[in-house]
Amino acid sequence: MTLLVYGAYGYTGELVARELVDRGRDPVLAGRNDAKLGRVGTRLGCETRAFPVDRVAAHLDGVDVVLNCAGPFVETAEPMARACLAAGADYLDVTGEIPVFESLARRDDEASEAGVTLLPGVGFDVVPTDCLAAHLADRLPDATHLALGFEPHGGLSPGTAATAVGQFGEGGAVRRDGRLLSVPPGHRERRIDFGNGARSAVTFPWGDVSTAYRSTGIPNVEVYVPVPTAARRALRAARYLRPVLGAEPVQDVLQALVRRFVDGPDAAEREAGRAFVWGEARNEDTGETAVSRLVTPETYAFTVGAASTAAERALDGDAPAGYQTPSTAYGADFVTDLDGVTRTDD
Ligand SMILES: NC(=O)c1ccc[n+]([C@@H]2O[C@H](COP(=O)([O-])OP(=O)(O)OC[C@H]3O[C@@H](n4cnc5c(N)ncnc54)[C@H](OP(=O)(O)O)[C@@H]3O)[C@@H](O)[C@H]2O)c1
Repeated sequence: MTLLVYGAYGYTGELVARELVDRGRDPVLAGRNDAKLGRVGTRLGCETRAFPVDRVAAHLDGVDVVLNCAGPFVETAEPMARACLAAGADYLDVTGEIPVFESLARRDDEASEAGVTLLPGVGFDVVPTDCLAAHLADRLPDATHLALGFEPHGGLSPGTAATAVGQFGEGGAVRRDGRLLSVPPGHRERRIDFGNGARSAVTFPWGDVSTAYRSTGIPNVEVYVPVPTAARRALRAARYLRPVLGAEPVQDVLQALVRRFVDGPDAAEREAGRAFVWGEARNEDTGETAVSRLVTPETYAFTVGAASTAAERALDGDAPAGYQTPSTAYGADFVTDLDGVTRTDD
C-alpha cells in the first residue's frame, strides 16, 4: 500500500513526512516545486513526484492514500479529492476551512459508491474538538446546543497564518437549527475555563461549525477562542473593516507580511507547548449540561501525531468509505489514544 504526502516541503508537510518515516513507513513525497521537493526527498530518503495540483490525476499511479498538507486548502482540496475519487485512493487532509469541509461532504455519495474515504481535518483542526463533540453527544444524547473551544499555547506556522489572513474577509460562522450561518467576527462573547483558568472568549469560524453537526447531529454549534481585551476591541472594529481586509490589494500586503515574519514553532516550542480544549453540550429544554475537557500536546506536535496515525490507519485498510469526520471514522476515543492527550469530564 502506498501513501502520497502532498505539500511535503511545507512546515507541516515535512514534519508529518518525517514522522511517517520514523514510524517505518515509506511515503512518496509530492509538491509543486521540484527543487524544494528534491531537498526534502534527499533529507528523508523518499521517492518524490513534483506536479502542480491541477495535474494530480496523472501522478496517482499505484497510490492508495493521499494525505494533503498543502494549504490554503480552498485551492488544493477539491482537485486533489476529485483525482482520488477517480483513482480509487483515500483522501485525507489537515484543513480547518469550513468551505472545504462542506464541499467534500457534498461528495459523500460519490465517495461511498467509489469505496473511497474522504477524511478532511485530521490535524489539530478538528480532531480534538470533533472527538470531544462526539464524546459529549454520548454523554448527553438529547443535547440541542454544543459549544466548543480551545486555548493554544505555542507559535504559528506561515501556512496557518496565511490561511487565517485569507479568512479575515470572510467574517464569522456558527450553526443554528442545523444551518450554517454567517455572523460578524467574534459575534458572541463568554467567560470559559478551557482548563487553564477562566478567560474571555469570542466565537470563531472553526471547522467544527461544519463537522460537529455531521458527527453528532446537534443542530446548534459555536466554537470559541480566548482573546485579550484589546483584541476583542479590534474584532469589533473588524466588523466594519471586513470588506477592506478581504480586498485583494490588502490581502496581498498581509500575505507578504506573513511570509516575511512568521516562522513555525521550533522543536523546543513544539515539545513544551500545550493546548486546552473545552466542550459543553446542553439541552435547552431541560437545562441539563455536560462539560468535558482535553489537554493535548502543542497544536503542530498534535497535528503531526494525529495526521500520521490517521494516514497509517487508512494505509492499513482501516478507513470507512464516504465522507467522514475524524470521530465518525475512528470514534470519540481516537483522540485519547494519541500520545500526550488526557480527557476529563465535569
Ligand atoms: N489541521 C491543523 O490543525 C493544521 C495544522 C497545521 C497546518 N494546517 C494548515 O496546513 C496548511 C499548511 O500549513 P504550513 O504551516 O505547513 O504552511 P507552509 O509551510 O507555508 O506550507 C504550505 C505548503 O503548501 C503548498 N501549497 C500552498 N498552496 C498550494 C497550491 N495552490 N498548490 C500546490 N501547493 C501549494 C506550499 O508550496 P509552495 O511553497 O510551492 O507554495 C507548501 O508546500 C495551512 O493551510 C494551515 O492552516 C492545519
